[in-house]
Amino acid sequence: MARLPDAFIDDLLARTDLVEIIGSRIPLKRQGREYSARCPFHDERSPSFTVSPTKQFYHCFGCGAHGTAISFLMNYDRLEFLDAVEELAKRVGIDVPKDAQVRNEDGESRDLYAALDASAKFFQTQLAGNAKAAAYLDKRGVDADNRARFLIGYAPEGFNGLKDALGGDERRLRLLEKTGMLSKNDSGRVYDKFRDRVMFPIHDRRGRVIAFGGRVLEKDDGPKYLNSPETALFHKGRELYGLWQVRQAHAKIPRLIVVEGYMDVVALFQYGVTQAVATLGTATTPDHAELLFRNAADVYFCFDGDRAGRGAAWKAVESILPRMKDGRQAFFLFLPDGEDPDSIVRQEGAAGFDIRLAAATSLSEFFFSELSKDVNLLSLEGRARLAERAKPYLANVPDGAFRDLMQQRLAEITGVGGRAQPTATPHTPSMRPARGAAPAPKTSLVRAAISFLLQQPQLAQAIEPPYLFGVLRQPGIPLLVELIALVRERPDIGTGAVLAHFAEREEGAALQKLAMQSLPGDEAMWREEFLDALGQLDRQTRQQRVDELNARIGEVGMTGLSADEKAELRELQSPRR
Ligand code: UTP
Ligand code: MN
Repeated sequence: MARLPDAFIDDLLARTDLVEIIGSRIPLKRQGREYSARCPFHDERSPSFTVSPTKQFYHCFGCGAHGTAISFLMNYDRLEFLDAVEELAKRVGIDVPKDAQVRNEDGESRDLYAALDASAKFFQTQLAGNAKAAAYLDKRGVDADNRARFLIGYAPEGFNGLKDALGGDERRLRLLEKTGMLSKNDSGRVYDKFRDRVMFPIHDRRGRVIAFGGRVLEKDDGPKYLNSPETALFHKGRELYGLWQVRQAHAKIPRLIVVEGYMDVVALFQYGVTQAVATLGTATTPDHAELLFRNAADVYFCFDGDRAGRGAAWKAVESILPRMKDGRQAFFLFLPDGEDPDSIVRQEGAAGFDIRLAAATSLSEFFFSELSKDVNLLSLEGRARLAERAKPYLANVPDGAFRDLMQQRLAEITGVGGRAQPTATPHTPSMRPARGAAPAPKTSLVRAAISFLLQQPQLAQAIEPPYLFGVLRQPGIPLLVELIALVRERPDIGTGAVLAHFAEREEGAALQKLAMQSLPGDEAMWREEFLDALGQLDRQTRQQRVDELNARIGEVGMTGLSADEKAELRELQSPRR
């Protein structure tokens, strides 16, 4: 992994608004100096996830998840380290040091991205010079803005257009092959995979082209849509067409609409419905579901009203039920026979489409109506069958109000299962004996000093080496000294980055715990108490030395001490230095 200078990371985290980063992905509630939320990394009902803007870190009291803005993006958006850094750097408007970027991807994938990018450009140029393809897009009403936004292009007729343009030598030919842009026939001849097709580049979450879909111009000219094969960069079950464009159009995505086709996404966009994404000729996978809900709390699935459409919708149900944490909602919209979102939005406009969305079927409604399709709910047997069928699905729904309500609904329909299980556990007796409360553990001075430093690392600037207390024989002293040195060396460091520095070390967990405390008071007070604690530690260090010298005297007598030791002892015992 590429190394970025610590100072760069510190500066980046200091400039990053962690609350904004996290708050744009999950709802945060202000609580004094900090913010809280239900943890996005585990299922829970009551918020134990805390975001501290001043400490530049988050942590969850429930599952222990914790980290900085960088680790949040890595875990939540599933970005690689450097991708997360780049995303943050872009937001605050600073550049990531160049050599790090280059080393970000190993050479090969960098070349693959470049080959795909060049292919997209090649197709765009071809479109500009091809009247037939341009006329096709005109006919379908795709305007210039949207051609540009989606980088729509055209793969020329013939077998060697792209190959000749970009596959000049062995190496480049090999790369093109690896990106799935070429096909090979039985006799080993290599030729363009996409020919005489309108080309829709598929972008990844960072806006890089990773694959293509190509549509025929004429009916009966092979399959209507041809997609890139799975490659090192492209796994169709994990990608959503249009998500990059939606993310570009919204700082915070209000809702996502899942449609079936490339043209549906493009047409919806053009008519002002700028939140549509498409699965790539596959059913909605669990990865899709995860990706969808990570980007928006409300997801609308839009399908044909026919049997195939309802089947596809059920596949989506299976993928999303295990991800229905509280706060998330899913809806299903079925379109009239023969229509798709493209045709609907052209006839009815964004307003008409919105009306349909508003009337969409909720997940619970769709779930129960599908499961009871061939069941006679008037008979006891039928109701029992429905209850049986629903059970395994509901077992997969995360704990929460949604699950309780689904269970309740099932009980209402079937009479089976009663009310939702009460999940509130009876009040647990306090761990502490009722009488004679145990004395509060005395927090050591070292611990206190470390706590203040974690609260406000810059406190370390308030003192200058040498540190007398550095030689005190007490647990935690070396750590305290190391912490102070770290902050003095990296003046912009925040709590989150301090913790990241110690993450791999034994002390990491203890520091994490200390950092989670929210100390009362303000900066001025912490500074005073911090300095006071260090002052006491200094006194203890002097006492430690006095004891040492006294022990020597016990052994060798006063006369056995060297002149220096005698002077030191006098100095140490003088009332005040
Ligand atoms: P549709 O057949 O519904 O086409 O395929 P469409 O989206 O309405 O396309 P237009 O409007 O005729 O241009 C829906 C999606 O299924 C996949 C594609 O992703 C397509 O967008 N598909 C369809 C294929 O992968 N291959 C095909 O041959 C057809
Ligand atoms: Mn269509």
